[in-house]
Amino acid sequence: MAKSNTVFVCAECGATSPRWLGRCPSCGKFNTMAEEAVKESKPERTKSAVYAAPGAKKLREVSFERFDRTPSGISEFDTVLGGGIVTGSLVLLGGDPGIGKSTLLTQIAAHLSLTRRVLYFSAEESCAQVKMRAERLNLDCDDFLIINDTCIDNLENELEGVEICIVDSIQAVYTDDLSSSAGSVGQVRECAAKLMRIAKSRGITFFIVGHVTKEGALAGPKVLEHIMDTVLYFEGENQENYRILRAVKNRFGNVSEVGVFEMTDHGIIAVTDYSGIFLSESRGQEAGCAVTPAQTGNRCMNVEIQTLISKTSFGQPRRMPLGLDYNKLVLLLAVLEKRCALPFYSYDVYINVMGGIKLSEPACDLAMCAALASAHKDVPIDKYTAVFGEVGLTGEVRAVSYAEKRVQECVKMGFKRVILPAKNMKSVAKYADKINIVPVLYVNTMIKTLFKNCD
Ligand SMILES: Nc1ncnc2c1ncn2[C@@H]1O[C@H](COP(=O)(O)OP(=O)(O)OP(=O)(O)O)[C@@H](O)[C@H]1O
Ligand SMILES: [Mg+2]
Repeated sequence: MAKSNTVFVCAECGATSPRWLGRCPSCGKFNTMAEEAVKESKPERTKSAVYAAPGAKKLREVSFERFDRTPSGISEFDTVLGGGIVTGSLVLLGGDPGIGKSTLLTQIAAHLSLTRRVLYFSAEESCAQVKMRAERLNLDCDDFLIINDTCIDNLENELEGVEICIVDSIQAVYTDDLSSSAGSVGQVRECAAKLMRIAKSRGITFFIVGHVTKEGALAGPKVLEHIMDTVLYFEGENQENYRILRAVKNRFGNVSEVGVFEMTDHGIIAVTDYSGIFLSESRGQEAGCAVTPAQTGNRCMNVEIQTLISKTSFGQPRRMPLGLDYNKLVLLLAVLEKRCALPFYSYDVYINVMGGIKLSEPACDLAMCAALASAHKDVPIDKYTAVFGEVGLTGEVRAVSYAEKRVQECVKMGFKRVILPAKNMKSVAKYADKINIVPVLYVNTMIKTLFKNCD
């Protein structure tokens, strides 16, 4: 009889310990060790050696085929994947409960089933539930195979001839090799490793749904993300119809790519004309709003940054950024105080990016400064003005990449004036007849340009 015992496994890194520890000795995180029952079993190590070569060879002698990419039927999804679905890859789709993970994958599965053999391994919902969803979405899914099971070992036997398999979700499946319950660190890791072995040895593409923790990270051990070829996050506010799909890891494409979707009664629809959705209706009427052409992945879109400042009631003023970096906000507030004589020490500052999008590039610094200055002066910025540029600690405005693309986007969106770094002027001078281009060297100059009639 197999010996059964319990071990404590770290939820972050998967390190094990025979007794409970408050702090993981491997990754140093506190309170991450959870007890798991483990049946002694020999993992099938031999099967994992799919990459193992009989001997070393020169790189130029290695033969390979170009990645065969299949369109998923949803253009935005293909963009995020880097141009389509790569055969034999493992794609993990994480997201909040009810965000639409199953809906998106059902739609993709239905489209792919027209030309490929697709299997939907539903561990969370019954076959009838999936069928009901497919009917509601009006999908053509006559040839789409479905199983309702939770044991991953049964899946292996059903994969004959299957090219694409969807596992919904990794936290709900288990393997008989371990006696711990489904969703535990060991189970998630072992099931993911099994799927990887199948994907790489049999060339089957897997889409795996993953749950996220309260903090928004993928639930389960970090090794889960390491095993995957592509890790996607589906995010957005449940109340809002817009959803953003973001790649956080991609072995076959750019990770800064985002896809914009809309959740409708007929399912998830890719938004191709996304340019206006990150701008508010009241733009130009209220103080504290500035628009910047932001570059995310290969696309440029105009995004509005909104700021609210209010008198601090407690000793320490609050700084609260949403979709922007906290340290960047603190740094820019210091620049505005020191270089532009706009004191914020007695104000709480709230700053938010419209539409739930996250901006991390330095090119949005100048727009953050513009929004903060507008809130401080309580004067709205003109509706048809866009701003972009990086801001240094000395208050200088530095050149940024993709200046031409950004100006082009502003022209396309009907903006009449764009304030940008003077060093970018050369590359965008050709647009001078279409839009009023205002080059600036210092943040102070930008503030004077924006609010010249207000002092
Ligand atoms: N009858 C309906 N009509 C319109 N929209 C619906 C209907 N049923 C569900 N939805 C939408 O679909 C969403 C749920 O989608 P889905 O089941 O794909 O989410 P999920 O991310 O897979 O959730 P979970 O984590 O629970 O599996 C709901 O939030 C809702 O917006
Ligand atoms: Mg689901």
